[in-house]
Amino acid sequence: MLNLKSGLSSSTVKGFLAAPKHPTSFAYSARSSLSCQAFAPPRRPHCRPFIRIRATAQPSDPEAQIHPQLERSTKLKIAIVGFGNFGQFLAKTFVHQGHVVQAFSRTDYSETARNLGVSFFKDPHDLCEEHPEVIVLSTSITSTESVLESLPLQRLKRNTLFVDVLSVKEFPKKVFLKLLPPEFDILCTHPMFGPESGKDGWEGLTFVYEKVRVGNHRDRIGRCDQFLQIFAHEGCDMKEMSCEEHDRYAAGSQFITHTVGRVLGKLGLQATPINTKGYESLLKLVENTQGDSYDLYYALFLYNLNAIEELEKLEMAFESVKNQLLSQLHEVLRKQLFNSEDE
Ligand SMILES: NC(=O)c1ccc[n+]([C@@H]2O[C@H](COP(=O)([O-])OP(=O)(O)OC[C@H]3O[C@@H](n4cnc5c(N)ncnc54)[C@H](OP(=O)(O)O)[C@@H]3O)[C@@H](O)[C@H]2O)c1
Repeated sequence: MLNLKSGLSSSTVKGFLAAPKHPTSFAYSARSSLSCQAFAPPRRPHCRPFIRIRATAQPSDPEAQIHPQLERSTKLKIAIVGFGNFGQFLAKTFVHQGHVVQAFSRTDYSETARNLGVSFFKDPHDLCEEHPEVIVLSTSITSTESVLESLPLQRLKRNTLFVDVLSVKEFPKKVFLKLLPPEFDILCTHPMFGPESGKDGWEGLTFVYEKVRVGNHRDRIGRCDQFLQIFAHEGCDMKEMSCEEHDRYAAGSQFITHTVGRVLGKLGLQATPINTKGYESLLKLVENTQGDSYDLYYALFLYNLNAIEELEKLEMAFESVKNQLLSQLHEVLRKQLFNSEDE
């Protein structure tokens, strides 16, 4: 059975299925800025819309006979470098969608990987010799540069796609552009959710990306879009923007959220028998932000050029609110003081 994401008529789909087979004949979802030439086989005048394929096809369904062919053409070999909390979280969905997933990390995660259906490599040379089509860097922000420098890039295929998922964007973009050979493709992304907020699925959750450098060949454009398709397929809200723009927004939202969560955490807030909804959301904020490592929080500050300005604005806003309260209090006290003296 085919599930059509972009409201295609069944005749359009049948036309597509009857079309000559083409290995990269899927286009990215309608929300993407995908160029049509990337996927359209020669002599096809229009862009192919995104088609979601379910694994529930019935053998009697004629469309299902073409299904395995289509399935193969959409599967990627993805290597995750940095197989900690977030790397494992991503791997689950990659595997679930049928992609071949491999991993490398400084810690030996062989057992965890096996349970997730991921092949774990203790040596980055062995991983690179597997020639993954996509390498997803999911290490801590602070270790990004050293990890990338330690990878034996010469063992990879010449035009491997490198993806990062760091919570800051301008920094990895610069590092990738500096350290990766010019024939490698670069996609900078930030899935704006994690194991906590994304535990019940990714529907409606924001995914930010910038196609920093993608070679002008249809296979390379197709591979990049196939990777993005993983998130679109799960229902993510796909937002294409520059890394610099992301960091400006994130300093005013994500960094402030983490900072307020950590400040409130210092107060040691406790649930009471008379919690309001507002207070419960504060408790939730503390719980969510404390789940992330301090390394991650510190990196949101250090590696986002806009963070210090936001911290200063937060401090000034707090002072301003405090002064407003205190000055009003002084006025009331003064009135009481002078009135009582008059009497
Ligand atoms: N957690 C989230 O909700 C979330 C959401 C979106 C994006 N991200 C991004 O995803 C990335 C991973 O985040 P995380 O939550 O897993 O926690 P993290 O503390 O930011 O990173 C942990 C990962 O970094 C690796 N690592 C740390 N120091 C290293 C070093 N010196 N050398 C080599 N590897 C090192 C760890 O490897 P070992 O485990 O092998 O030690 C582990 O794979 C970060 O860049 C973060 O910004 C996280």
